Amino acid sequence: MILCVTADKKLNGSCCVPGDKSISHRAALIGSMADGKTVIHNFSEGADCCRTLQCLEALGVEIQRENGKICILGRGLNGFCEPDDILDAGNSGTTMRLLLGLLTGQDFFSVITGDPSLRRRPMGRVIDPLVKMGAEIRARCDNTLPPISVRGTNSVHPIEYTLPIPSAQVKSAILLAGMNANGRTTVIQQIPSRDHTERMLQYFGAALTIKDNVICLQGKRPISGQLVRVPGDISSAAFIMVAAVLVPGSQVLIRDVGINPTRTGIIDVLKMMGADIEVIDQRSWNGEPVADLMIGSAQLKGVEIKNPLLPRVLDEIPVLAVAAAAAEGETVISDAAELRVKETDRLKAVASELRKMNVEIKEKPDGLIIGGSQLKGARVKSWGDHRMAMALAVAGLIADGETVIEDAACIDISFPDFPDVMRALGAGIRAEN
Ligand code: S3P
Repeated sequence: MILCVTADKKLNGSCCVPGDKSISHRAALIGSMADGKTVIHNFSEGADCCRTLQCLEALGVEIQRENGKICILGRGLNGFCEPDDILDAGNSGTTMRLLLGLLTGQDFFSVITGDPSLRRRPMGRVIDPLVKMGAEIRARCDNTLPPISVRGTNSVHPIEYTLPIPSAQVKSAILLAGMNANGRTTVIQQIPSRDHTERMLQYFGAALTIKDNVICLQGKRPISGQLVRVPGDISSAAFIMVAAVLVPGSQVLIRDVGINPTRTGIIDVLKMMGADIEVIDQRSWNGEPVADLMIGSAQLKGVEIKNPLLPRVLDEIPVLAVAAAAAEGETVISDAAELRVKETDRLKAVASELRKMNVEIKEKPDGLIIGGSQLKGARVKSWGDHRMAMALAVAGLIADGETVIEDAACIDISFPDFPDVMRALGAGIRAEN
């Protein structure tokens, strides 16, 4: 599939975005570890969360899908069944890493793999702590790359672990394994990362406490099924937010967006750059803050983006690079080396595709330096990465002439309706096969 984008229209109106991907994965995994039924509304429609459901079904979990609602019959903390085939996490790093945590506490053998992109992503970061917790794990390339085999255990050791990198997936894998540990698991984070697992475990009744940057979890305490309403994904909303800021004369309302402070770096950075964003009617859904966002167009200026802000805008760097390209002055992004091991090397991909659109952009080992430019339409490619495809579509909305994004079917990973939602707001975007 290709996306064809033209720049002549302004964006107006209101919309919703798909359910948050991170929260959807966690609701399904934690609901499966609970006793009784969990009902999830607004579960992410993307392919990644679908992979989590399929893997859980292969582990014996009964899941019913009813229009926009998912019902999960929990198996309890360690009542899963040995799968009779290889588990396939597709493109989803969150599925693979969090599932490895759950599998650590299951007394059986399983193997998990993924697509070519996922099979290149580093797994040593979760394998190391999970082996310390008692799982027997083997993987390709000296225990670092999928496919991965796991022999879990009934007696998980509780550990105290200081996270070497600010990764929510590593933190979550340890906490999910810790649910089956004989005692108290402690995770110490030097720089905070998204905290949806902590919030969701507490919502389900787990014995989890947080003080400063230390998370403590008492193992072997059963949790019970809950009703979960998943907020809209701020990482999907980010594409619409940046588009509304950049296209002159736009005014867009995005309803029911999750505004967990570990994820709202995109709002803070756009405001620092001079954007006009209003957070309206803040409320709470199952322990997660939610609001409507009103965004108007504005002229932006370049800024510096680095730690401790970086983990709060981690997934939004491709689209922020587009905002930076349209800003006055230079934007410098640092402390972002992790982007090299996402669905693709996002620093390299962003630099090489935006350069084709006349953007002055330099790659650093841990970031990007982006100069403000008048973008020109071009034929660009997604590198098979959903966030690249959508960021380039936003770039097309402010470029002279037509932009064609090749290999764009990957938007299905997180935001299958992206072209339709954008078109309904007035954007000149169409999908072609
Ligand atoms: C995620 C954590 C982040 C993020 C990813 C989703 C999660 O990855 O980039 O898209 O749901 O826990 P890391 O934990 O590798 O930083």
